[in-house]
Amino acid sequence: MADELGLMVKEGYELIAMFNLEDHFPLRFLDFNGVKRRCHKLSSKVRSVVGQIVKERRKAWDLSINGGNDFLAALLTLPKEDQLSDSDMNAVLWEMIFRGTDTVAILLEWIMARMVMHQDIQTEVQEEIDALIDHRSDRCVRDSDISNLTYLQAVVKEVLRMHPPGPLLSWARLATHDVYVGKSFIPAGTTAMVNMWAITHDPSIWKDPWTFRPKRFLEDDVAIMGSDLRLAPFGSGRRVCPGKTLGLATVHLWLAQLLHHFKWLPVTATEQVDLSETLRLSLEMKKPLTCRVVPRRAQHAA
Ligand code: HEM
Repeated sequence: MADELGLMVKEGYELIAMFNLEDHFPLRFLDFNGVKRRCHKLSSKVRSVVGQIVKERRKAWDLSINGGNDFLAALLTLPKEDQLSDSDMNAVLWEMIFRGTDTVAILLEWIMARMVMHQDIQTEVQEEIDALIDHRSDRCVRDSDISNLTYLQAVVKEVLRMHPPGPLLSWARLATHDVYVGKSFIPAGTTAMVNMWAITHDPSIWKDPWTFRPKRFLEDDVAIMGSDLRLAPFGSGRRVCPGKTLGLATVHLWLAQLLHHFKWLPVTATEQVDLSETLRLSLEMKKPLTCRVVPRRAQHAA
Protein backbone atom coordinates (compact mmCIF):
# COMPACT_ATOMS: atom_id res chain seq x y z
CA MET A 1 0.00 0.00 0.00
CA ALA A 2 2.75 2.50 0.92
CA ASP A 3 4.56 1.75 -2.38
CA GLU A 4 1.34 2.26 -4.31
CA LEU A 5 0.69 5.59 -2.58
CA GLY A 6 4.30 6.60 -3.27
CA LEU A 7 3.84 5.98 -7.00
CA MET A 8 0.58 7.91 -7.00
CA VAL A 9 2.22 10.91 -5.30
CA LYS A 10 5.04 10.75 -7.86
CA GLU A 11 2.56 10.70 -10.74
CA GLY A 12 0.68 13.65 -9.19
CA TYR A 13 3.85 15.73 -8.95
CA GLU A 14 4.81 14.90 -12.51
CA LEU A 15 1.39 15.94 -13.79
CA ILE A 16 1.30 19.16 -11.81
CA ALA A 17 4.71 20.21 -13.13
CA MET A 18 3.88 19.49 -16.79
CA PHE A 19 3.20 22.33 -19.19
CA ASN A 20 -0.40 21.95 -20.28
CA LEU A 21 -1.51 23.96 -23.32
CA GLU A 22 -5.10 23.38 -22.31
CA ASP A 23 -4.63 25.68 -19.30
CA HIS A 24 -4.39 28.49 -21.88
CA PHE A 25 -6.81 27.12 -24.50
CA PRO A 26 -9.46 25.28 -22.50
CA LEU A 27 -11.05 23.21 -25.28
CA ARG A 28 -12.72 20.12 -23.92
CA PHE A 29 -11.88 17.84 -26.81
CA LEU A 30 -8.13 18.57 -26.78
CA ASP A 31 -5.68 16.63 -24.62
CA PHE A 32 -2.12 17.62 -25.48
CA ASN A 33 0.47 15.21 -24.12
CA GLY A 34 -2.33 13.10 -22.59
CA VAL A 35 -2.34 15.21 -19.38
CA LYS A 36 -6.13 15.04 -19.03
CA ARG A 37 -6.17 11.27 -19.57
CA ARG A 38 -3.45 10.74 -16.97
CA CYS A 39 -5.25 13.06 -14.48
CA HIS A 40 -8.49 11.11 -14.86
CA LYS A 41 -6.63 7.84 -14.39
CA LEU A 42 -4.90 9.13 -11.26
CA SER A 43 -8.07 10.52 -9.70
CA SER A 44 -9.93 7.23 -10.15
CA LYS A 45 -6.94 5.43 -8.59
CA VAL A 46 -7.02 7.88 -5.65
CA ARG A 47 -10.73 7.20 -5.18
CA SER A 48 -10.14 3.47 -5.21
CA VAL A 49 -6.95 3.25 -3.05
CA VAL A 50 -7.84 5.94 -0.49
CA GLY A 51 -11.47 4.75 -0.49
CA GLN A 52 -10.22 1.25 0.36
CA ILE A 53 -8.22 2.60 3.33
CA VAL A 54 -11.35 4.31 4.67
CA LYS A 55 -13.49 1.23 4.04
CA GLU A 56 -11.10 -1.08 5.91
CA ARG A 57 -10.90 1.29 8.87
CA ARG A 58 -14.69 1.64 9.01
CA LYS A 59 -14.96 -2.14 9.04
CA ALA A 60 -12.51 -2.28 11.97
CA TRP A 61 -14.65 0.24 13.90
CA ASP A 62 -17.78 -1.78 13.14
CA LEU A 63 -16.06 -4.90 14.46
CA SER A 64 -15.02 -2.88 17.54
CA ILE A 65 -11.35 -3.46 16.77
CA ASN A 66 -9.25 -0.52 17.97
CA GLY A 67 -9.26 1.88 15.01
CA GLY A 68 -6.19 3.79 16.21
CA ASN A 69 -5.93 7.43 17.20
CA ASP A 70 -4.64 9.00 14.02
CA PHE A 71 -6.06 11.57 11.62
CA LEU A 72 -8.42 9.12 9.92
CA ALA A 73 -9.73 7.93 13.29
CA ALA A 74 -10.42 11.58 14.19
CA LEU A 75 -12.37 12.07 10.96
CA LEU A 76 -14.37 8.88 11.45
CA THR A 77 -15.33 9.75 15.01
CA LEU A 78 -16.58 13.27 14.27
CA PRO A 79 -20.07 13.96 15.63
CA LYS A 80 -22.77 12.79 13.21
CA GLU A 81 -23.66 16.34 12.06
CA ASP A 82 -19.99 17.08 11.17
CA GLN A 83 -19.29 13.78 9.37
CA LEU A 84 -17.69 14.17 5.93
CA SER A 85 -19.09 12.50 2.84
CA ASP A 86 -16.96 9.67 1.42
CA SER A 87 -15.72 11.80 -1.45
CA ASP A 88 -14.79 14.71 0.88
CA MET A 89 -12.98 12.29 3.19
CA ASN A 90 -11.03 10.85 0.24
CA ALA A 91 -10.13 14.36 -0.92
CA VAL A 92 -8.93 15.48 2.52
CA LEU A 93 -6.85 12.33 3.06
CA TRP A 94 -5.30 12.49 -0.40
CA GLU A 95 -4.47 16.19 0.04
CA MET A 96 -2.68 15.35 3.31
CA ILE A 97 -0.73 12.53 1.70
CA PHE A 98 0.04 14.47 -1.47
CA ARG A 99 1.06 17.83 0.01
CA GLY A 100 2.51 16.51 3.27
CA THR A 101 5.12 14.09 1.96
CA ASP A 102 7.54 15.78 -0.42
CA THR A 103 7.64 19.10 1.48
CA VAL A 104 8.77 17.39 4.68
CA ALA A 105 11.24 15.09 2.87
CA ILE A 106 12.72 17.94 0.82
CA LEU A 107 13.11 20.21 3.83
CA LEU A 108 14.87 17.46 5.77
CA GLU A 109 17.20 16.77 2.84
CA TRP A 110 18.21 20.47 2.70
CA ILE A 111 18.74 20.49 6.47
CA MET A 112 20.95 17.38 6.37
CA ALA A 113 22.89 18.90 3.44
CA ARG A 114 23.59 21.96 5.59
CA MET A 115 24.54 19.76 8.56
CA VAL A 116 27.04 17.87 6.39
CA MET A 117 28.48 21.16 5.10
CA HIS A 118 28.67 22.93 8.46
CA GLN A 119 30.18 20.35 10.80
CA ASP A 120 30.69 22.97 13.53
CA ILE A 121 26.97 23.81 13.57
CA GLN A 122 26.05 20.11 13.54
CA THR A 123 28.23 19.60 16.62
CA GLU A 124 26.62 22.57 18.39
CA VAL A 125 23.12 21.15 17.79
CA GLN A 126 24.27 17.72 19.01
CA GLU A 127 25.69 19.32 22.14
CA GLU A 128 22.35 21.04 22.75
CA ILE A 129 20.51 17.71 22.44
CA ASP A 130 23.10 15.86 24.57
CA ALA A 131 22.68 18.41 27.37
CA LEU A 132 19.05 17.27 27.51
CA ILE A 133 19.48 13.55 26.81
CA ASP A 134 22.83 11.75 26.91
CA HIS A 135 23.30 10.11 23.49
CA ARG A 136 24.63 6.95 25.22
CA SER A 137 21.33 6.49 27.01
CA ASP A 138 18.46 4.52 25.50
CA ARG A 139 16.07 7.42 25.73
CA CYS A 140 15.01 8.93 22.40
CA VAL A 141 14.18 12.58 21.78
CA ARG A 142 10.44 13.13 22.19
CA ASP A 143 8.04 15.81 20.94
CA SER A 144 7.98 17.36 24.41
CA ASP A 145 11.79 17.95 24.25
CA ILE A 146 11.61 20.15 21.16
CA SER A 147 10.62 23.37 22.95
CA ASN A 148 13.94 23.12 24.86
CA LEU A 149 15.98 22.77 21.65
CA THR A 150 16.10 26.41 20.58
CA TYR A 151 19.26 26.16 18.50
CA LEU A 152 17.86 23.19 16.57
CA GLN A 153 14.73 25.25 15.85
CA ALA A 154 16.94 28.13 14.68
CA VAL A 155 18.72 25.75 12.28
CA VAL A 156 15.37 24.72 10.78
CA LYS A 157 14.37 28.37 10.39
CA GLU A 158 17.64 29.23 8.67
CA VAL A 159 17.19 26.35 6.21
CA LEU A 160 13.59 27.44 5.56
CA ARG A 161 14.97 30.92 4.83
CA MET A 162 17.74 29.81 2.49
CA HIS A 163 15.97 26.86 0.84
CA PRO A 164 12.21 27.35 1.19
CA PRO A 165 10.59 24.15 -0.19
CA GLY A 166 7.66 26.24 -1.44
CA PRO A 167 9.45 29.29 -2.87
CA LEU A 168 6.49 30.66 -4.87
CA LEU A 169 3.41 31.25 -2.77
CA SER A 170 -0.04 31.02 -4.28
CA TRP A 171 0.61 29.57 -7.66
CA ALA A 172 -2.43 31.39 -8.95
CA ARG A 173 -3.87 34.23 -6.87
CA LEU A 174 -6.14 36.60 -8.76
CA ALA A 175 -6.55 40.35 -8.20
CA THR A 176 -10.33 40.72 -8.08
CA HIS A 177 -10.14 44.52 -8.40
CA ASP A 178 -7.57 47.19 -9.36
CA VAL A 179 -5.11 47.66 -6.53
CA TYR A 180 -1.77 49.31 -5.72
CA VAL A 181 0.94 47.22 -4.04
CA GLY A 182 3.38 49.90 -2.90
CA LYS A 183 3.85 51.97 -6.05
CA SER A 184 2.98 49.17 -8.47
CA PHE A 185 -0.43 49.20 -10.09
CA ILE A 186 -2.03 45.73 -10.35
CA PRO A 187 -5.06 45.74 -12.66
CA ALA A 188 -8.06 43.52 -11.89
CA GLY A 189 -7.73 40.05 -13.42
CA THR A 190 -3.93 39.84 -12.89
CA THR A 191 -2.63 36.50 -11.64
CA ALA A 192 -0.04 37.16 -8.94
CA MET A 193 2.52 35.03 -7.15
CA VAL A 194 4.65 35.92 -4.14
CA ASN A 195 8.31 35.09 -4.61
CA MET A 196 9.24 34.08 -1.06
CA TRP A 197 12.69 32.95 -2.21
CA ALA A 198 13.49 36.48 -3.43
CA ILE A 199 12.29 37.99 -0.14
CA THR A 200 14.38 35.61 1.96
CA HIS A 201 17.51 36.41 -0.09
CA ASP A 202 16.96 40.19 -0.20
CA PRO A 203 19.92 42.06 1.39
CA SER A 204 17.66 45.00 2.26
CA ILE A 205 15.66 42.63 4.51
CA TRP A 206 18.28 40.12 5.70
CA LYS A 207 21.84 40.87 6.77
CA ASP A 208 24.27 38.69 4.76
CA PRO A 209 21.41 36.70 3.17
CA TRP A 210 23.80 34.23 1.51
CA THR A 211 25.48 33.27 4.77
CA PHE A 212 24.12 30.23 6.64
CA ARG A 213 23.93 31.57 10.17
CA PRO A 214 21.17 30.01 12.34
CA LYS A 215 22.21 32.20 15.28
CA ARG A 216 20.49 35.16 13.58
CA PHE A 217 17.24 33.61 14.84
CA LEU A 218 18.51 33.46 18.42
CA GLU A 219 19.18 37.21 18.16
CA ASP A 220 15.86 38.01 16.42
CA ASP A 221 13.05 35.50 16.99
CA VAL A 222 11.24 35.86 13.65
CA ALA A 223 7.84 34.11 13.53
CA ILE A 224 7.58 31.71 10.60
CA MET A 225 3.91 30.75 10.66
CA GLY A 226 2.74 33.58 8.42
CA SER A 227 2.52 36.65 10.65
CA ASP A 228 5.89 38.07 9.57
CA LEU A 229 6.25 38.41 5.81
CA ARG A 230 10.05 38.53 5.95
CA LEU A 231 9.87 34.75 6.33
CA ALA A 232 6.62 32.98 5.50
CA PRO A 233 7.73 29.56 4.21
CA PHE A 234 4.21 28.18 4.76
CA GLY A 235 2.47 31.12 3.10
CA SER A 236 0.16 33.53 4.86
CA GLY A 237 -3.50 34.42 4.98
CA ARG A 238 -6.43 32.32 3.85
CA ARG A 239 -4.44 29.89 1.74
CA VAL A 240 -1.69 29.37 4.30
CA CYS A 241 -0.42 25.78 4.57
CA PRO A 242 -2.89 23.85 6.76
CA GLY A 243 -0.18 21.28 7.58
CA LYS A 244 2.40 23.78 8.87
CA THR A 245 2.26 22.72 12.53
CA LEU A 246 2.33 19.01 11.68
CA GLY A 247 5.10 19.56 9.09
CA LEU A 248 7.28 21.55 11.45
CA ALA A 249 6.71 19.18 14.38
CA THR A 250 7.68 16.22 12.17
CA VAL A 251 10.83 17.91 10.87
CA HIS A 252 11.95 19.04 14.35
CA LEU A 253 11.50 15.58 15.84
CA TRP A 254 13.10 13.64 12.99
CA LEU A 255 16.02 16.06 12.81
CA ALA A 256 16.61 15.82 16.56
CA GLN A 257 16.55 12.03 16.41
CA LEU A 258 18.80 11.84 13.33
CA LEU A 259 21.37 14.13 14.95
CA HIS A 260 21.09 12.52 18.36
CA HIS A 261 21.94 9.07 17.02
CA PHE A 262 24.22 9.77 14.06
CA LYS A 263 27.10 11.89 12.88
CA TRP A 264 26.54 13.13 9.32
CA LEU A 265 29.71 13.42 7.24
CA PRO A 266 30.74 14.12 3.63
CA VAL A 267 31.38 10.97 1.57
CA THR A 268 35.07 11.90 1.37
CA ALA A 269 36.98 14.64 3.17
CA THR A 270 37.27 16.65 -0.06
CA GLU A 271 33.76 16.15 -1.45
CA GLN A 272 31.64 19.30 -1.48
CA VAL A 273 27.87 19.31 -1.03
CA ASP A 274 26.26 20.54 -4.24
CA LEU A 275 23.62 23.12 -3.31
CA SER A 276 22.25 23.61 -6.84
CA GLU A 277 18.48 23.93 -6.83
CA THR A 278 15.79 22.72 -9.18
CA LEU A 279 12.22 24.02 -9.09
CA ARG A 280 9.53 21.44 -9.61
CA LEU A 281 6.37 21.81 -7.50
CA SER A 282 8.83 22.26 -4.62
CA LEU A 283 12.38 23.60 -4.55
CA GLU A 284 14.50 20.45 -4.58
CA MET A 285 18.22 19.67 -4.48
CA LYS A 286 19.31 19.20 -8.08
CA LYS A 287 21.67 16.43 -7.03
CA PRO A 288 20.21 14.32 -4.21
CA LEU A 289 22.35 14.46 -1.08
CA THR A 290 24.89 11.69 -0.62
CA CYS A 291 26.75 11.48 2.66
CA ARG A 292 28.28 9.14 5.22
CA VAL A 293 26.43 8.34 8.43
CA VAL A 294 28.18 7.06 11.57
CA PRO A 295 26.35 5.96 14.75
CA ARG A 296 27.46 8.30 17.54
CA ARG A 297 27.29 5.66 20.24
CA ALA A 298 29.75 3.38 18.39
CA GLN A 299 31.96 6.38 17.66
CA HIS A 300 32.04 7.20 21.35
CA ALA A 301 32.84 3.60 22.35
CA ALA A 302 35.71 3.38 19.83
C1 HEM B 1 7.68 21.53 6.33
C2 HEM B 1 6.83 21.18 5.45
C3 HEM B 1 5.90 22.07 4.63
C4 HEM B 1 6.14 23.24 3.95
C5 HEM B 1 7.45 24.00 3.84
C6 HEM B 1 4.88 23.62 3.32
C7 HEM B 1 4.70 24.75 2.56
C8 HEM B 1 3.51 25.10 1.95
C9 HEM B 1 3.32 26.28 1.16
C10 HEM B 1 4.38 27.34 0.86
C11 HEM B 1 2.03 26.27 0.72
C12 HEM B 1 1.37 27.32 -0.19
C13 HEM B 1 0.86 28.49 0.61
C14 HEM B 1 0.42 29.61 -0.29
O1 HEM B 1 0.29 29.42 -1.49
O2 HEM B 1 0.22 30.74 0.21
C15 HEM B 1 1.41 25.06 1.22
C16 HEM B 1 0.11 24.69 0.96
C17 HEM B 1 -0.46 23.52 1.40
N1 HEM B 1 0.10 22.61 2.26
FE1 HEM B 1 1.95 22.68 3.04
N2 HEM B 1 3.93 22.69 3.64
C18 HEM B 1 4.50 21.72 4.44
C19 HEM B 1 3.89 20.63 5.01
C20 HEM B 1 2.58 20.26 4.78
C21 HEM B 1 1.93 19.11 5.40
C22 HEM B 1 2.60 18.16 6.40
C23 HEM B 1 0.65 19.07 4.89
C24 HEM B 1 -0.47 18.11 5.18
C25 HEM B 1 -0.45 17.19 6.09
C26 HEM B 1 0.50 20.19 3.98
C27 HEM B 1 -0.65 20.48 3.28
C28 HEM B 1 -0.81 21.59 2.47
C29 HEM B 1 -2.02 21.86 1.70
C30 HEM B 1 -3.28 20.99 1.66
C31 HEM B 1 -1.81 23.07 1.03
C32 HEM B 1 -2.76 23.80 0.10
C33 HEM B 1 -3.57 24.84 0.86
C34 HEM B 1 -4.49 25.63 -0.07
O3 HEM B 1 -4.21 25.72 -1.26
O4 HEM B 1 -5.48 26.21 0.42
N3 HEM B 1 1.69 20.89 3.95
N4 HEM B 1 2.31 24.39 1.98
